[in-house]
Amino acid sequence: KRPAGAPDPGLARDVTKVGVVGAGLMASQMALLFARRLEVPVVLTDLDQERVDKGVAYVRAQIDKLVSKGRLDAGKAAKLRGLVSGSVDKSVFADADFVIEAVFEELGVKKQVWAEIEKIVSPECVLATNTSSLSVTAQAADLEHPERVVGFHFFNPVAVMPLVEIIRAERTGDAALATAFEVGKKLKKSCVLVKDAPAFVVNRVLMRFMGEIFATVDAGTPPAVADGALDPLGLPMRPLALTQLVGPGVAYHVGSILHDAFPDRFPASENVKLIAESGLPLLVDDELNPEV
Ligand code: CAA
Repeated sequence: KRPAGAPDPGLARDVTKVGVVGAGLMASQMALLFARRLEVPVVLTDLDQERVDKGVAYVRAQIDKLVSKGRLDAGKAAKLRGLVSGSVDKSVFADADFVIEAVFEELGVKKQVWAEIEKIVSPECVLATNTSSLSVTAQAADLEHPERVVGFHFFNPVAVMPLVEIIRAERTGDAALATAFEVGKKLKKSCVLVKDAPAFVVNRVLMRFMGEIFATVDAGTPPAVADGALDPLGLPMRPLALTQLVGPGVAYHVGSILHDAFPDRFPASENVKLIAESGLPLLVDDELNPEV
């Protein structure tokens, strides 16, 4: 069954090579998933060789883990290793049909990335952003071909979380959107079409709930106590542990965008800001993994 709002799948373009901009944790997780499910070459890029190498090493380590768990046979693992590569030179994207970015959550940075990539790829290449909260329309605003820009938002951990939010920006064309849905299907994700609104749907709902936990911490409740308050609900993870998994910096950025858009509904948290800026962990290890 076609997901609500998805265009005719016949409009989708073939994807024979994927480019991933950024080689951080989210980007590396995405690279592995694309290679594994689409079975096409995937190239990771980043600002320097060290980051690229780290991203590729992460993918290789995850492949080894899958083999040791018996979830991937040796032959497929060898093939998969051969599909994922890294480069600091973005000209490797010249023959890519789908480029996805997972770089720093700042509009100026994303726009700069797209301006650079647009000069390299073909006009048909779909440009997908994994932004958690930034406007996709604004990212595409100055491009020559804004019709091929689409939001493609994964959740952490990418390999496990079933949902992808697909975002249609003001000028997104049907071919890019159809390609995004077909790619999502091959990745075995549940894809939903959402509007290009601040933090889309999931993070908007999630941050309302997280905001209350942050507010109790800001008001003086010890983090571990606030974090455990909802244990009886049987959540898969405590809220602050989840914030740590996603990254306090990301949580802070998403929170700021929501605060700017809807100040009454999303108060700014002093503690999340402090933690995002200091790079300190939200909770110590035994608080993250309590004996229940
Ligand atoms: N990468 C790859 N696989 C992972 C993983 C990771 N980081 N973390 C866990 N897994 C895998 C495990 O290997 C395991 O796989 P197998 O069945 O093959 O062994 C499976 O997931 C289950 O893991 P565990 O048994 O270790 O632990 P669990 O049952 O507690 O599940 C969890 C872990 C899936 C992370 C679960 O705790 C969970 O669902 N947490 C909530 C995650 C969530 O809400 N994510 C959304 C965050 S918001 C976001 O991402 C939006 C944004 O834009 C910032």
